[in-house]
Formats: sequence, structure tokens, C-alpha cells
Amino acid sequence: MELGVCYYPEQWPQALWEKDALEMKNLGLSIVRIGEFAWSKLEPKEGVYQFEWLDRSIKILGDAGLKIILGTPSATPPSWVLHKFPDMLGYDMGGRPRKFGSRRHYCFSHQGYKELAAKMAEKLSKRYGSNPTIMAWQVDNEYGCHDTTRSYSPIAEKAFQKWLLQKYQSIEILNERWGNTFWSMEYSNFDEIALPMLTVTEANPIHRLDFHRFSSDQVVQWNKAQVTAIRHGSNLPIMHNYMGRITDFDHFQLGEDLDFATWDSYPLGFLEDRSDRSKAFKAQHQFCGDPDFQAFHHDLYRSVGRGRWAVMEQQPGPVNWAPYNPAPDPGVVKMWALEAKAHGAEFLAFFRWRQAPFAQEQMHTALKRADNEPAKAYDEIKELVKALDQIQKLHENENDVALVFDYESHWAWEVQPQGQDFNYFKLVFAYYCALRKLGVSLDIISADSTNIKKYKLVCLPGLFNISEALSRKIKSHQGQILFGPRSHTKTEDFKLNIDSVSKIFDKEIKLTQVQTFRKGTKKTFKDFGTFEIWTEELTLDGIPSEPILSLGNKSYLTGWPDEETLIKILSTTLSRAGISHKRLADNIRREGPWEFNYLEGKVSYENKNTK
Ligand code: GAL
Repeated sequence: MELGVCYYPEQWPQALWEKDALEMKNLGLSIVRIGEFAWSKLEPKEGVYQFEWLDRSIKILGDAGLKIILGTPSATPPSWVLHKFPDMLGYDMGGRPRKFGSRRHYCFSHQGYKELAAKMAEKLSKRYGSNPTIMAWQVDNEYGCHDTTRSYSPIAEKAFQKWLLQKYQSIEILNERWGNTFWSMEYSNFDEIALPMLTVTEANPIHRLDFHRFSSDQVVQWNKAQVTAIRHGSNLPIMHNYMGRITDFDHFQLGEDLDFATWDSYPLGFLEDRSDRSKAFKAQHQFCGDPDFQAFHHDLYRSVGRGRWAVMEQQPGPVNWAPYNPAPDPGVVKMWALEAKAHGAEFLAFFRWRQAPFAQEQMHTALKRADNEPAKAYDEIKELVKALDQIQKLHENENDVALVFDYESHWAWEVQPQGQDFNYFKLVFAYYCALRKLGVSLDIISADSTNIKKYKLVCLPGLFNISEALSRKIKSHQGQILFGPRSHTKTEDFKLNIDSVSKIFDKEIKLTQVQTFRKGTKKTFKDFGTFEIWTEELTLDGIPSEPILSLGNKSYLTGWPDEETLIKILSTTLSRAGISHKRLADNIRREGPWEFNYLEGKVSYENKNTK
């Protein structure tokens, strides 16, 4: 695993550039990512290009022996672009345009801006595509971040109508498949269909799900335009830096157009900003992060990148954007990096080289302070470089367990949670955490994954609809399969999938009722355990089923288990699948031959002790 850093030469006097480059190299870094927000310096006015400063910066970094990932700057369209396209802004759900003055202020459906961004990507690619210092491209920056996937703009509305026309071909078919006789919602023309916003009470769930599908497709198409443009000048690998817990576009689908997946890992920021953990858990882990959150995304993006992935941004100290911004304990930054290696990362880059003394992120730490002295993490990076040198060979482990993560299911249950605590990410993540507590390393796979055969256990909690193709694979699967709750309970058109569970098992099974609970309410079954949030009642041949219905190699869990119950169930299922496992202490996680001690920030390795 190589190490790198994110760098913004345009933010610093040129007199510093050479010293910076040499110091990066001396520290043991080999990769630098630059350029992803530099549009106003590259093209200050339309058609007036200024590439000389970038030429110089690339030369200096290259001369120091560093390789560059060059970003396309489309996440930050400068002010003149907005004057050119006043209708390019993304709109929020209340129908208000978002304003200039930060970043990601564009709507994915704006054709003119999409072409302009692609033109800039092509310019960069033609100018630098054969420069030996450039190793790869990063397209845009963190799609979906700051809630920007779904735009409720007039332009998005037109594009949505077009998308619906293509999908349904006729308005009669749309009315029928959407069930629009309900509440007299029938349309006579595609032009009449508005975006699902500002309705008096909830909009039709399929209207919303289709809007979520459309919004995801717009991101995929947007990305494709730049990939095509880059390919006019370069054959180098193309990547994107995904984020943590961004679920509103289908990363698997977008990833098919890229060579590599990368993501931005901010363990302490994420714990404060986007975690469902209890207050006590957060307090206990505030200086080391959630032991499973980073790992979950490493495994998810390994799959999105079809095996090739990296960390593009790694938090090295306190960030500026979470409600609270603690500092990692000594040893923790090194531990995060080694954990990424254990999951198979090809490189890890820190965000960022030097703390900016101005603008939005002036309180965000870096490897160097704003006064150019080494920041707290600096010495730990030196230790990390040594530790990485000592590790000669990584055992390649084939995982026996797969956990399905499906973006569309996330959208479906977001549209119809039925109880306010039902969240698909949270459900899948609970399975992930429980399996890791049992010492199991696993793969996260998409619902379209071509190969489930090799797994001894496949878990697919909450998968809203099981496709024909997956259903065939499930039927012939030899290993254990664990479903539920809510598996296959809807059709693709968001109708109730009557006899869903029967179809899974080929038996007369009826789903007779579901109910959801307020926080703190639980349903306990003797000799089994406890459900919270969600329960279902099933009957098999007319007889009420056990909380877990097991027939042959397939089991269906009829509720959302609490942590201890889930660990118990998974332990039994692992044993049934013939997978050896062992419950670990709460602060310990294993990944292959590695052991991570979260609360102490320590790592050990089976052959070499890297402490
Ligand atoms: C990331 C983003 C960076 C920077 C960083 C601060 O989400 O890609 O540009 O803003 O957060 O932590």
C-alpha cells in the first residue's frame, strides 16, 4: 500500500512548492492528488485558460519523484459558469435554488453544464494524459455529498418526465403500474408529472422510488460524460472518491464506468456526524472511531471497484465539519491506515498536506500546520512508513461470508420506512457489525453480483425485491442463506409482493401482519431473543412460524433483532455453514491475520508485530 496526500498548490505561494514536494517525498509519500477544486485558476473566464501554473506544479512534484492523481474540477464551477447558465443550480426539496459560495451547487440534469465540465476534463486529459508524472484521474469530488444527488429544479423535472417516458412508453402503462386510480392520481400526459415534492401528504411511493432511480441515473450519466471526455486524451485509470454513508446513487452502477473505487475516510467525523450508535458508544469511541464503520466502507468499495480500491482522503487529526471535532488518540491514525491495508487498499492518501489559514476549512487539521510546522500526525506517519516496510507479504484471504448491500432497497425503505427507525443502511450495518464481532471477515456484494456460489453464507437482510436472476442463483445455492426482515416484500413497481416468502421457499408461507415499534419497545421470545423496530408474523401451512423460519439451507428472520440476538443467530448460522468463528472483545476486530485494538489504537499482525 502506497501513501499519499491531497495538495492544493493553487492555495500557496509558488516559493513553497519545491520544499513541499521534497518534504513529501522525504516523509515517505509517493502519491499526490491535486486539482479537483482549481477551476477558477485554470479558466478564470470562459475560454481563457491558464495551465502554466499547473504545468509547473506537476513538474516540481514529478521531479521530486512523486506521482499525481489529477482531479477534474467540476464540483466547484466558478461564478462565471453560473452567469453563463443561471438555471444550472441544484434545488432543494422545498423548491429553492441552492446558491453560489461553497461547492457542489450544480444540478446533474443540466446539459449545458455537463458538457462544459466534460470539455474541461477533455482539455486536462489532452494536455496531461501522456505526462509520465500523472498516474490516474479523479472525476469530480464526492458525488452526493452535501445532499446534492436529488435536485428538485425545473430542469430536473423536465429530465424526469423524459426518463419516465422512456421507461413506460405510454401514460396508460405508467398509470397502471403506478396504481394511479388511487386518489384520482391519473395523468393524461407525461408533461403533467411533477417531481414528488411539496405534496399535501405523502406522494405515491413508486413516484418517489422512480424519482430516486432517475436521480441516481443522472449521476451515472454525468460521470460517464467525463469518463468519455478523459478517454479522448488518456488511457490512465479513472477513479472517483466516494463518501461514507452516501446512499442516494447506485455506486455499483456508477463504478462500472470507472477503473478503480476510492473513498474518503473520516472516522471521527463520521462517528459524530452520521452514526446511529448510542451516546455512550460515541463517547467511548470518540478518539478512535467506530470499529466497523471504516471497515464496512472498505469492503463495500472493494466490491464497487471490482477488487481495486483505495482511500483517497484519510483524516489525520480533528476535522472542522462535525458537531464535535475531537483528535485521534496516539496510534490511531496509523491503525486506520494499517486497517485499510488489511482490507486490500492499494494506496491511502491523507487529507491534506497543510492546514489552510483561510476560508471554510481553516479549522481542519492536516499533516502540517498552517505555520508550516509538523502537525500531530506527522511523526505517526513516519512510524507508519516503517511499519509498512516491515510487512512483506499479505495473506490473501478468500472470505466465506457475503452480505448484500443494495442501493435501491435503501431508497425503497427510505420512501416507506413504516416505522421511523427502520433504515436499510442501519439494518445491513447491524449484520456487518455482528459478523465482525464474531471474528469473521466478509465481502459486501451487490444484489446483481455474478458469483454467490463461492460463499458458505449469504445474508440479504431487507432486500426489497429479489430479481429473477438472483432468485435462480438462490435456488441452486448450496451454502446457507439468511433473509429478512422485509425481504422480497415488494414488486419492482412498489406494490405488495403477495406470497413473497412463499416464492423464496417454494412452500405455502403467508405474511399475515407486520408491525413497528417505538424506540425502547421490544418483543422477546423465549429461547430465542428479542426483536425491536420491526416484526412480521408468518404462517407455514397455516401454523404460526418461529421468529426464525429455517427450511433446509434457507432461513428467514421475521424481525429486526437486537445486538445480542443477532450475534446469537449469526453464530448458529455460521456454525451451520461450517465457518469457524469466535466472539471477540468489544474493542477488538480482526481482518485476516491482523488484529486491531480500537480503544488502545494498536495493531498486531500474525507474523510480524507492527506495534
Ligand atoms: C471531504 C472533501 C474534501 C474536504 C474534506 C474535509 O469530504 O472531499 O474536499 O472538504 O472533506 O474533511
